[in-house]
Amino acid sequence: MDNTKQKIDHLRRVLDRLNYDYYVRNAPAAEDREYDRMMAELAALEAAHPEFADPNSPTHRVGSDLTREFQQVAHRYPMLSLANTYSEEEVRDFIARVDRETAVPTAYCCELKFDGTAISLTYENGRFVRAVTRGDGTQGDDVSANVRTIRSIPMSLQGDGWPAYMEVRGEIYMPHGSFERLNAERADIGEEPFANPRNAAAGTLKQQNSAVVAKRGLDAVLYAVQADAPVAASHYETLQKLREWGFKTSSAVQLCRSAEEIMAYIRHWDKARHELPYETDGAVIKVDSIRLQRDLGATAKAPRWAVAYKFKAEQAVTRLVSVDFQVGRTGAITPVANLEPVRLAGTTVRRASLHNAEQIELLDIRVGDAVRVEKGGEIIPKIVGVDLAQRPAESVPFRYITHCPECGTPLVREEDEAKHYCPNATGCPPQIVGRIVHYISRKAMNIEGLGDETVQLLYNNGLLGDIANLYDLEVEHLVPLERLGRKSAENIVGNIAGSVEVPYARVLFAIGIRYVGETTARKLAAAIPSIDALMAASREELLEVEEVGGKIADSILAYFADRRNVEMIDRLRRAGVQLQAVERARLSEALAGKKIVISGTFDLHSRPELKELIELHGGTNQSSVSKATDYLLAGSGIGPKKLETATKLGVRIISEEEFMEMIGGEMLKIQQTTLF
Ligand code: IVH
Repeated sequence: MDNTKQKIDHLRRVLDRLNYDYYVRNAPAAEDREYDRMMAELAALEAAHPEFADPNSPTHRVGSDLTREFQQVAHRYPMLSLANTYSEEEVRDFIARVDRETAVPTAYCCELKFDGTAISLTYENGRFVRAVTRGDGTQGDDVSANVRTIRSIPMSLQGDGWPAYMEVRGEIYMPHGSFERLNAERADIGEEPFANPRNAAAGTLKQQNSAVVAKRGLDAVLYAVQADAPVAASHYETLQKLREWGFKTSSAVQLCRSAEEIMAYIRHWDKARHELPYETDGAVIKVDSIRLQRDLGATAKAPRWAVAYKFKAEQAVTRLVSVDFQVGRTGAITPVANLEPVRLAGTTVRRASLHNAEQIELLDIRVGDAVRVEKGGEIIPKIVGVDLAQRPAESVPFRYITHCPECGTPLVREEDEAKHYCPNATGCPPQIVGRIVHYISRKAMNIEGLGDETVQLLYNNGLLGDIANLYDLEVEHLVPLERLGRKSAENIVGNIAGSVEVPYARVLFAIGIRYVGETTARKLAAAIPSIDALMAASREELLEVEEVGGKIADSILAYFADRRNVEMIDRLRRAGVQLQAVERARLSEALAGKKIVISGTFDLHSRPELKELIELHGGTNQSSVSKATDYLLAGSGIGPKKLETATKLGVRIISEEEFMEMIGGEMLKIQQTTLF
């Protein structure tokens, strides 16, 4: 037994270290395969020995189940904000005030102001205990499960000398790369993209499902320690300590000794920040000496020893030539401004986003106007204002379109949405083409050889009217088309035919029901294993499925209420596309004839996974406890009603560990068999 514990500890230590090398130092120290092998070994040991469970284990960094509600936790030390300055003059005023009050030569530590969301990480005896958002500054939300998935944040500290209790403060942010990937995925399922990386980071941190958080590529940078006694004499040394303990800190920190040096730092980063892989919205200037910080103190809101300088979002003025209206796959209309080309933040800008009708009206933007374009936290520049002095005399107010520019259908606007939509889903060309392009995409049916342009070409030639038409294509149809030789035509037809092997969960994602992304499709397919059952499901049944809320349920119902979709699915069925989950061979008969109810959330598995396990071992999953129930599989936060009924009826209550024992601790097998 001791041996096992030692093995587990060893693997955890090694994996923690490898995470540090990879995520903090950017210097991978092992092959991916080796890392994966150790992770699998640790997961297996932990599954077989629940007595050695530890929430800080590296195996928990992929996230797990739902957090229903975030606990409110008080900060032991308040989380203050920063006073903002916007000009060189204001920064000089700050320095003059500090110099006056301290009456000694003062060093300033300059850093970047990361544009994310503030976090406080509590460590006790060098171990991560919890992560809490800023909230109102005195108390915030406990988001530990989500923060554990950010692998640059250490779960146990390196070195020594840390206080027995400390709160490490910093910023959680979303690097540009993760942000772009996330927004592309959202566009894929017809979700509104996040406006900027800050909103994306804050939104992600409040996700209820930490497994979703794990995939979104958040990162963290730490810049302060709060403890009963300071950990160093200066802020600069504090940052060094943080680095020694394994935290990621900013590499742009600089000690400055005069207003000149500070201004040079600001001017440098105002330009150089555009090259950084993350967003910064300013610089922070902090008195370096901790003793002087204490002397200077704080107001109720912000320390008096620090100030933020906000970079100006870069702007340029240019002329608005025309406005295009793009129609997306889901019918969403996006107005796009065509501009006279202008240089802005290192690139030439020709197009800018106008967001929606309301914004155009609010700013009274007109074609021909001299408009101010800004590139702030957003990737795509946006129009933020109009120079009325330059408005041509003949200009007329902008009239937003009322009909779809592609198919002429009157546009609709749902109550709580800013965007207009073209409701003609099955008849509007860019929506049809967009859906087919989505269907064949890598993450969906992965039909190679067919690109966006070929799909457009086939559509233009009347060969593709919807997804199901793909299966009617013949080599002879394709060969005469420009750019397509016989070889590629044969390839395409072959790949389409091969796509009938794609499992049902992916098909469900591929058909493009609005809001049904990859994960939702997987959960739906696990809970409701055929498209016929899905079509027959009531709103209540849909809501029972993990991750399915009102918006998704309504969208599924609306999809199947459209006769054309049902008819199209029938043609997919005739083509042999997988419209039901394939029954998997039983792993054992350990639960043969047993009826099991699942309630609460679990450490090792999600509920769909447990449900699948029950079935793979011959049992049946029930939704409510009755006399016929054999076991109530109880997790944390179990429904009190279920517990009470089970106790009253004498139903045996089992934990996840007991359940795993009953089926022979098949942790690893499950991971392989639940891949959809
Ligand atoms: S120091 C008591 N340093 O900006 C001092 N804050 O506008 C508190 N922020 O809530 C903060 N980068 O979320 C500090 N290098 C940095 C920062 C930084 C970003 C955020 C932080 C704070 C907000 C205040």
